[in-house]
Amino acid sequence: MHFLNHGSFGATPKYVLTAQDAWRARLERQPVRFMSSELPDALRATRERLAAFLATSAERLALVENATDAVNAVLRSFAWRSGDEIVLADHAYLAVRHTVSFLAQRHGLVVKLAQIPFPLSGGQAITDAYCEAITARTRLVIVDHIFSTLALQTPVADIVAFCQPLGVRVLVDGAHAPGLLPLQLDALGADWYTGNCHKWLLAPKGCAFLYASPTAAASLHPTVISNFHEQGFPREFDWQGTRDYSGWLAIPAALDFLGAFGIERYRSVLCQQASAAARLLSEHWQTALPAPMELFSAMVTLALPGDPEASDEMARRWHDRLWQQHRIEVPVLAFKQRLWVRISAQIYNELPDYEALARAVRPD
Ligand SMILES: Cc1ncc(COP(=O)(O)O)c(C=O)c1O
Repeated sequence: MHFLNHGSFGATPKYVLTAQDAWRARLERQPVRFMSSELPDALRATRERLAAFLATSAERLALVENATDAVNAVLRSFAWRSGDEIVLADHAYLAVRHTVSFLAQRHGLVVKLAQIPFPLSGGQAITDAYCEAITARTRLVIVDHIFSTLALQTPVADIVAFCQPLGVRVLVDGAHAPGLLPLQLDALGADWYTGNCHKWLLAPKGCAFLYASPTAAASLHPTVISNFHEQGFPREFDWQGTRDYSGWLAIPAALDFLGAFGIERYRSVLCQQASAAARLLSEHWQTALPAPMELFSAMVTLALPGDPEASDEMARRWHDRLWQQHRIEVPVLAFKQRLWVRISAQIYNELPDYEALARAVRPD
């Protein structure tokens, strides 16, 4: 099997799953005592550890199930007024676009899409696309730190700097960023930042965080209102009903795993591998890279050869054929009248994985 889609859902190291199992066993030994007495301290310790990694403090950080949950919490807590404008990219993640449409209908919001050019020659084009969509009526901008489809990095700090003097609030959707990009959340100055721990940080599935600045935290509530309602951020998020909290508690094990590998080394190994793979594919397929390599990290989106009538149905057929005939798992996407693949690089991947993809699409 050639598994080239860590970006969607990747394997969790056994070391981390073992730590999660140990938390589950601890819960089952005395569930009442665990939930009422041990869990609050364990969650605080987890938030402290994660906060240190993200250059913020535990008071600014809530644990959530996933980035979708966090985006919903922010957007549903916001005091919208009819006619408010909200800006997000045309390539924002589908669940985020759906959440925005739902709220736009409910509150009479105007949705402005930043049109991200692709291919592009530099990050400034992304910043410009967001800034051009902002008007005097804009109340909130959702910025993708790494685009799901395009795999590009956005110059988030530049957009925050543009929005702050205008009083426009910024929610950063950094679903892919933790582990891949060095994050300094306090220094960044965004109002809210969500990131998944279950992607590139290698934590168990169902692990993500929501950062909120002191002003942005004031009226923020979890998507699930529960027993700690009105007890303030982030405590309200610490209890969302009876559920399995063991994944969250294994986040420190994921940080230990990456720490032992070396976080800088991890990033550089993945980026070098993604870059080598992208070069290999673009040479074999004779398709140009759609953006400078420094805008990508461990994922690269590049065009499939040929110029077919791109459609979602064709993309689905390509994806299924690659899996069924070649055991290659890679997302195939249709947009801007072309078909694209988004490759991921992870420490379990090797160059022959990408060679297999190159040949499966265009045999020598
Ligand atoms: C940019 C972006 N936002 C949000 C999400 C949703 O993440 P989750 O399914 O963990 O909520 C993804 C998932 O890949 C994503 O790429």
